Amino acid sequence: MKTTVSEFREYIAQVGEIDQIMIDVDRAEGIHVWDISGKEYMDMLSGICVGNVGHRNPRVVDAVRKQTERYMHVMVYGEFVQSPQLEYFKRLKKYLPDSFAQIFYVNSGSEAIEGAIKAARLFNRRTEIISCRNSYHGSTLGAVSMLSEEKFTQPFRPLIPDCNHIRYNCFEDIEKITEKTCCVVMEAVAVGTGVELPEKNYLKQVRERCSEKGAVLIFDEIQTGFGRTGKLFAFEHFDAVPDILCIAKGMGGGMPIGAFTGRKDIMLALNNGHPLIGHATTFGGHPVCCSAALAVLEAIMEDDLMRDVDKKGEMYRTLLKHPLIKDVRGIGLFNCIELREDVNWQNALKACFSNGIITGTHLFNPQCLSLKPALIITPEQIKESIDRIHTALDSL
Ligand SMILES: Cc1ncc(COP(=O)(O)O)c(C=O)c1O
Repeated sequence: MKTTVSEFREYIAQVGEIDQIMIDVDRAEGIHVWDISGKEYMDMLSGICVGNVGHRNPRVVDAVRKQTERYMHVMVYGEFVQSPQLEYFKRLKKYLPDSFAQIFYVNSGSEAIEGAIKAARLFNRRTEIISCRNSYHGSTLGAVSMLSEEKFTQPFRPLIPDCNHIRYNCFEDIEKITEKTCCVVMEAVAVGTGVELPEKNYLKQVRERCSEKGAVLIFDEIQTGFGRTGKLFAFEHFDAVPDILCIAKGMGGGMPIGAFTGRKDIMLALNNGHPLIGHATTFGGHPVCCSAALAVLEAIMEDDLMRDVDKKGEMYRTLLKHPLIKDVRGIGLFNCIELREDVNWQNALKACFSNGIITGTHLFNPQCLSLKPALIITPEQIKESIDRIHTALDSL
């Protein structure tokens, strides 16, 4: 069925637009997206790290088909025992430290963050939420309250009180975590200003401080999870295990699902005898999405998709060179291109799209373009995408 850009803009509420970049999607497969005119794009955004196993991964498509043939939504709140929920966590648990005892399924990243914070509050009954400056954890009011920039929070005031900030990678700021702190929410690898890796021992010291002060450490691995950095979760690269791990995006391989998983004592605090005193969601743990999520894990593990992620990322970091590029940095296939300050990033984005490259900017630093293709990308495709990016930049 064909759509038109003007009708789409008229009827579907828009939250922002970048002039001239609209793809009328016809189909997507692997690392490619095609528009209705037949133009092919290489996807360097993967739906913001959703498509780690590639668009329409056959395992995911098959799992969705099989589950829809059995049942779709039946009932929530645990009255109905649903095997896809159980099978998924039993499998995920194999790859997590033993401390991750239970999972709570939700529908998105924002909701995983909300649920994790509620669990932390129920657990230690404190209020202060600490997050990092220039980090984004979602669009719900709770998550918006954690944003550091006034321009993003001002229209929504009054916000959730007691949200404070520290600077990512600033060792001095770690002292701001005190006995009053309910939880610290942070990304293991920060993405808001481009991709920023933690300094040596930074996460370890945050971990130690949280343990010392009784604050719950929540890692947001909503972008970095599911093989993106070369390990199933980014925290595995660094010497720090969170109390709660928030996951979404790549978890469902294109189906909407999120979750938070954590220490048993914290997860048990969610149970107050009534779902509305813990956290409730009608579609959380949807059996079709859980089946898709299990297929994603199978694809990553059985098809060994993490094996060459480091090497593939290294190709981008070493072969992408252009006078308009200031830096190419990241870890695994979680990278960004930082353009020189005098380059108009909107023009760069448009040039990329014209040359068959889908990418996007980073929220707090639009000079940074995303380089996050599916893990299944081949070395030949990487070279081709680098050529296209070079050609796009040449045209500016
Ligand atoms: C790091 C991070 N956390 C949380 C979220 C919110 O996830 P969702 O859009 O699924 O609510 C996002 C979304 O971009 C994200 O990048």
